[in-house]
Order: sequence, then structure tokens, then C-alpha cells
Amino acid sequence: TAGSAPTRDLTGRHVVVSAGGTREPLDPVRYLGNRSSGKQGHALAVAAAARGARVTLVTSAKPDLPGVDVVHIETALQLRDAMHAAAADCDVVVMAAAVADFRPATYAPTKIKKTHESRPDGSADESAPTIELVRNPDILAELVARRGGAATPIIVGFAAETGDEDGSVLDHGRAKLERKGCDVLVVNEVGEGKTFGADDNTVTVLRRGSDAAVEVGPATKAVVSDAVWDVVVSLF
Ligand code: CTP
Ligand code: CA
Repeated sequence: TAGSAPTRDLTGRHVVVSAGGTREPLDPVRYLGNRSSGKQGHALAVAAAARGARVTLVTSAKPDLPGVDVVHIETALQLRDAMHAAAADCDVVVMAAAVADFRPATYAPTKIKKTHESRPDGSADESAPTIELVRNPDILAELVARRGGAATPIIVGFAAETGDEDGSVLDHGRAKLERKGCDVLVVNEVGEGKTFGADDNTVTVLRRGSDAAVEVGPATKAVVSDAVWDVVVSLF
């Protein structure tokens, strides 16, 4: 816990953490993004380093974190390449990044202008453009598929959920854990004023094949991180 000397129970382990949102470019000056600050993922990286791990942090932010190897990415496709490269040689993968589910189908190499090229009759076309999107790969699912029947790496996912008419936050979390096939899922309740950019977090940590649900918080992202690593260490 905060303030006490950390347990060095990740000594000798290599952990790979992704964090922050992805940016999907439309043209040289614009992108589609999301509000993820990367703070929870960065806190996980720092906590793992304090517990003795070698840490690779793949992030769209530019944090300066002592004892952490930072790989900078912008897009989901870059994140995917970086995760596959790092996951080839690690004990734990944590997908805390907020990966864009979709990206623009095409990238305009020059700035998209609000008035387009003239119509055949010479008048300017001022209609609003339509942005076509294509699906990004599901990196977490790919990492699970790539592991196959092997015992490692341990794979941790995150899920930001809101309750709705189809179920509670936890119902959605359990379903996502089964669907994704990862070992641990850290479920966050999101909504107005919750989680994004905040310093505190409230999560439920679920394990595949177990009914146990570890509830943490509201607590600092450092405390939440240690609770996640406690669960991961229990799986070694
Ligand atoms: N994730 C991923 N690649 C994607 C989308 C998500 O690796 N293209 C990972 C996230 O990093 C997170 C987990 O999958 O660890 C769950 O992300 P989430 O957005 O909650 O799940 P989705 O499967 O994208 O479902 P939806 O957004 O529809 O709820
Ligand atoms: Ca998603």
C-alpha cells in the first residue's frame, strides 16, 4: 500500500502495459481520439517497477517515468505492432489502453478543406464530408489467440462500462471477460465525471473461472494498481 516498502514480488518478471488513447489520423492536422488520460496505465507501470519488474510501457502520452521503458505510439495499428513485439518476450500483458474501435478508412495526405474542389458548373462544393470508418483489430483478442494453450503471458484487460437496459456494469464485465478470453478483467464504471482524467478510480477486478470479484476504491490509481498486481501475482 502507499507509503510502505513495496513487495518485490515481480522481480525477474517482464511486464508490458499499454496506456492512453489512440489517435487515428484523418489528415496531417486532425485525428479521431478519446478522453483517456493514460494515468491508470502509467500508475500500473510505476507500481510494477516498484515491485521489481522490468516494465515496458506502450503509450500515446509522453510520460517521464523512472525505471520504465516507454514506447510511444499514436494509432491502434502502431499499438498493435508494439504490443506484439513486446509480448513475444514477457510474463504479463496489461491492455489498459483505450484503443479506438474504428479508424478513418482513408488518410488524406493534405489538409481537408472546408470548401472542396469546384463542381463541373464552376460553383464551390461546401457540403459536409462523410467520414467512412473501418474496424481496428482487437489487440487483446489477438494476444489471447497468439498465446494459444501456453500458460504465459498472463493477459489482463480493462473494460470501461456503463450499466444499461441489457445489464449492470458487472454483467457487462463478466460477459466481456468470457468473450475476450483474458485471465483478468479490470472493470471501470464510466459516465459523467467518472474516471477519465481523474486521480482516483473505483474498479472491480474479475478473474476468468472464478466468481470472486475484488472491489477497490475509490482509491488512488496507485492503490488500484497494486490491487491489480496482487491478483496477477496470485496467478503465477
Ligand atoms: N481492446 C483492444 N483492441 C481494441 C479494442 C479494445 O485490445 N481494438 C482492449 C482494451 O485495451 C481493453 C479491452 O480490449 O483492455 C476492452 O476494451 P473495450 O473497449 O471495453 O471492449 P470492446 O471489445 O472494444 O467492446 P465495446 O467497446 O463495444 O464495449
Ligand atoms: Ca471498445
